[in-house]
Amino acid sequence: MSKERVLITSALPYIHGIPHLGNIITSILPADVYHRYQRLKGKNSLFICASDSHGTMHEIEAKKEGVKTEELVYESHEKVRSLLEEFNFDFSYYGITDSEQNRSTTEHIFHKLDENNYIEEKSIDVTYCRNCEQYLADRWIEGECPECGGLARGDQCDDCGELLEPKDIIDPYCTHCGKKDIEFRKSKHLFLQLNKFEDWLKEWIEGRMGNKLTRSETLSWLNEGLEERCISRDASWGFSIPKEGFEDKVFYVWFDAPIGYIGATRSWAEENNEDWEEWWRDDSIEYFQFMGKDNIPFHSIIFPSMLKGTEEQWNFADHIVAGSFILAEDVKFSKSRGKGLNLETALDVRNSEYWRYVLMALYPRNTDTTFSWDAFKEKVNKELTDSFGNYVHRILKFIDENFTSEIPDGEMDEEVAREVREKIEEMERELEDFRFRQAVNKIIEISSLGNQYFQREEPWKKMGSDPEECKDIVYTCANIVRSLAIVSDPFLPKTAEKLWSFIGMETNIHEESWTKAKEFDLRSKTITEPEPLFEKIKDDDIPDFDNEKNKSKKQGGEENMISFDEFKELDIRIGEIKEVDDIEGSDNLLKFQIDVGDETKQSVGGLKGHYTEEELVGRKVPVLVNLETSELMGEKSECMILAAVVGNKEPVLLEPERDLEAGTGVA
Ligand code: MF3
Ligand code: ZN
Repeated sequence: MSKERVLITSALPYIHGIPHLGNIITSILPADVYHRYQRLKGKNSLFICASDSHGTMHEIEAKKEGVKTEELVYESHEKVRSLLEEFNFDFSYYGITDSEQNRSTTEHIFHKLDENNYIEEKSIDVTYCRNCEQYLADRWIEGECPECGGLARGDQCDDCGELLEPKDIIDPYCTHCGKKDIEFRKSKHLFLQLNKFEDWLKEWIEGRMGNKLTRSETLSWLNEGLEERCISRDASWGFSIPKEGFEDKVFYVWFDAPIGYIGATRSWAEENNEDWEEWWRDDSIEYFQFMGKDNIPFHSIIFPSMLKGTEEQWNFADHIVAGSFILAEDVKFSKSRGKGLNLETALDVRNSEYWRYVLMALYPRNTDTTFSWDAFKEKVNKELTDSFGNYVHRILKFIDENFTSEIPDGEMDEEVAREVREKIEEMERELEDFRFRQAVNKIIEISSLGNQYFQREEPWKKMGSDPEECKDIVYTCANIVRSLAIVSDPFLPKTAEKLWSFIGMETNIHEESWTKAKEFDLRSKTITEPEPLFEKIKDDDIPDFDNEKNKSKKQGGEENMISFDEFKELDIRIGEIKEVDDIEGSDNLLKFQIDVGDETKQSVGGLKGHYTEEELVGRKVPVLVNLETSELMGEKSECMILAAVVGNKEPVLLEPERDLEAGTGVA
């Protein structure tokens, strides 16, 4: 009889920058744990993942670096792949959405959707930067909000929250180049008619939402009613659209990304001489999807609709499991190299076993969780080291010293056996309910149960007086070590391997069976000399990018940090306001002539209504002199008066503490 089959996918990581802990805690990591668990349970489990490799981001980045987009993408793909390897994720296949297999699957699904009338054409306004020669995604255009004059970003104003059309933004500029060389072009696009799937979806979701969060997010989408979604983009990196009149456009990254699950399965099948359709067409397979909460609607609404609209037989997810966010308390998660905590810098602190444990112990099932170095220390020092590591070491050391490394034959204490079995069964229930935090904690509960038993029974006192009882105690404890090895394997695969070899096992633990953890029948094994499993975290181990980050936190994250060299390039001087002119038609802008020492520069700034002309003329203020000239309300602005901003936007001028000459440098 062939084994029952299980398909597991994890949300495909983006590969611009280095994934951080938040990018794996609810997706790849729990998927990997679940996959390893299913295998121990005797299932034929296929774990598929891939790099999510399309999206305009890459084009922009490549242009900046002066390399080909494809080169940049494949370089990042390799980088991410090798980091994921270091985290010991046991993918059956790790692919990339840019593959030929994914292209043909995407085209196929698109053709079917089109044939079945689920795709409609519509002409819309798209934003284009003439300087970058690039269409701009919504949040890449900024300017003045037509409602409040605040900072409008793409489709929303940051200040008043008003929803906007990018076209309505006043004086828009491109966030990549800073220029105002923007135009709006009419462009034909394709829209997936999601509303046609509403009724089907309402039934389909029943029983498939793996947790409360997933369910409530999905229902809120359905209750609001579904709108059509644009699946095309004006860009060149991505799969071009196989439809007349659309060849110069590509699929939106979120269209081909989930299809990537199928694409990567096809790649796996080709390389391994397997049949991909067995995994995607045969509904006896149980299919689990893991992801972060921001991915829910794509998996519970959009992707199933895409498959349904083909009117073909597909395996839909049976369990959609989304987790909440992990927030950083005293450290910054950063995707940039060397700037904060991400997969790369995390591994410089400790190897992946520590991170796998700590992240699972913090798994945010329905609500957000917080990562802090204190939490990290506490989990590692108290749980992994003092409880789990200590128990194992104590027992093995005892056997090593008192039984010449032979695990004595004895009888398992029945009460202890019952308790351990119970804990393991609780762990199974937690896992099957995707309660990873509770599940991983069972490892600690089992070790502390063992520790207490060993302490209570004091075998060291019975060596001479009751050697048989002493053997039973030690035998019982050694069996617990074996059970711990098996049940820790999904979470801590390297540690499980070590434990397995410590107790003289020669098989591959990853292919063992979960049920053996509940059978206490360890016989005639010789232990190898144990070494400590974990090392405590000392304060010195915590990297100091924290400090830098703390400084930058208030400024909105270290993405905003500039180097000292960059700072030195700012030419800030004391300037004297010589003249003030009104700018007609503007509520807040005035025009200034400012003496900055060697010349007089014009500046346009938002002081109208806050200061009178009398208050301004003759005043000495700090001025940023070497600022690229821009145009505001048709007036050149060549420098900028620096002022404090109170509340939302009330400017308060700064004054040198004593009278200074125009042109005096500020550093
Ligand atoms: N790359 C996306 C993210 O990190 C997830 C893509 S999941 C898939 O949010 F279903 F599209 F593959
Ligand atoms: Zn631009």
